[in-house]
Amino acid sequence: MGYRILETDDIPSYLRERGHWDDVDDIHVREVSDGNMNRVFLARSTDGSRSLAVKQALPWVRVAGPSWPMSPDRADAEARAYAQIAKVAPDKIPAILGYDPENHALVMEDMSDLEVLRTLLNEGASYGPHTSARIGELVAQLSFTTSDFGMPSADRKALIAASVSPELCKITEDVVLSEPYLTHEHNHWLPELDDLAAEFRADAALRTEVADLRHTFMTSAQALLHGDLHTGSVMVGTREGAPVVRVFDPEFSFVGPIGYDLGLYWANALVSEERARALGTLADHADQLRLSWDGFETEFRRLWPTRVDTFFDDAYLDRFLRRVWTDAVGYAGTEIVRRIIGFAHLTDLTTLPAPAPASRRALLLGRELILRREELSTADHIRALA
Ligand SMILES: Nc1ncnc2c1ncn2[C@@H]1O[C@H](COP(=O)(O)OP(=O)(O)OP(=O)(O)O)[C@@H](O)[C@H]1O
Ligand SMILES: [Mg+2]
Repeated sequence: MGYRILETDDIPSYLRERGHWDDVDDIHVREVSDGNMNRVFLARSTDGSRSLAVKQALPWVRVAGPSWPMSPDRADAEARAYAQIAKVAPDKIPAILGYDPENHALVMEDMSDLEVLRTLLNEGASYGPHTSARIGELVAQLSFTTSDFGMPSADRKALIAASVSPELCKITEDVVLSEPYLTHEHNHWLPELDDLAAEFRADAALRTEVADLRHTFMTSAQALLHGDLHTGSVMVGTREGAPVVRVFDPEFSFVGPIGYDLGLYWANALVSEERARALGTLADHADQLRLSWDGFETEFRRLWPTRVDTFFDDAYLDRFLRRVWTDAVGYAGTEIVRRIIGFAHLTDLTTLPAPAPASRRALLLGRELILRREELSTADHIRALA
């Protein structure tokens, strides 16, 4: 069904129609879309005192155009995830001011005073002590409260049904969790990595481990995930002297294995570390996996006594957290691999003056994380490998 595709000039009247800013006469709008998928506009009152952001999903992939159709229902998934997170971690996402399901458009807090974490890291910044801890905490808050520990069984079944996202999950199943290990037209890599790309395609043991992670992704409905938790989905900065961490863009949200969110973040941290190593700008990169896991585990254990189903005992919590860890290690591996020999690569590596050595190191690390995830049972084990 058709809907209104918003252009820059439509935004002021659209905002008024939706009941925002009835009292603002002059609205200045600019488009800031820099992702692949959707459009983002920033609106500002002329006196600069007020601003907000509008994100609209088009019925196709923005950078490809109508030749690559994509259901705009992904905006529903994004709005649904934000609504869940707002209940438990409102300080870690942008304030959502309205969602218009008819036009697949979200109106939210303007975060242009903050910076995308990947951009900062690529410029040589460090993480600081808060970022990864807050992200781990967010994963715990969202996942605990949308798991069978945090939600009555019937509500959970309804959440699972409402959060099914076949089109976006299929993208992950293909682009992340199979194509890089096959001959596929999407795949590309640096010529210096020809040997490793061929080895990965021929490696039967690797393929079985990726198949295991892929099947877990498809079947393990543990909790509502962000679904795309990379360093380009995080904004950081300071407001009134206090550190601010905001996670955004949860359009890939669905009910899946908790380790997937952590693993994606770890992969991006590890790749960012390889960039810094190549440039001689290593800072606090090596701490981030541990900081995010500690943030996650501490918060998950803090919430555990509030669980709705006490048949799950404390010994089961330990077992469950170990499984989440192991999954996260494996998904970190698949995310690294797909970002180097798969479809969509990372600017962390592509903008290096000599990207091949760092890419090779990361690729080898990714393979080890997938193959040896059972024995890599602590952050120190992964440090030793990296
Ligand atoms: N609330 C906001 N305030 C300020 N800028 C924003 C806001 N939301 C998004 N942006 C800007 O727009 C860019 C794209 O946003 P977002 O990642 O949500 O879009 P996307 O099309 O889903 O991207 P992707 O292709 O990575 O999935 C962000 O990188 C950021 O620069
Ligand atoms: Mg997106």
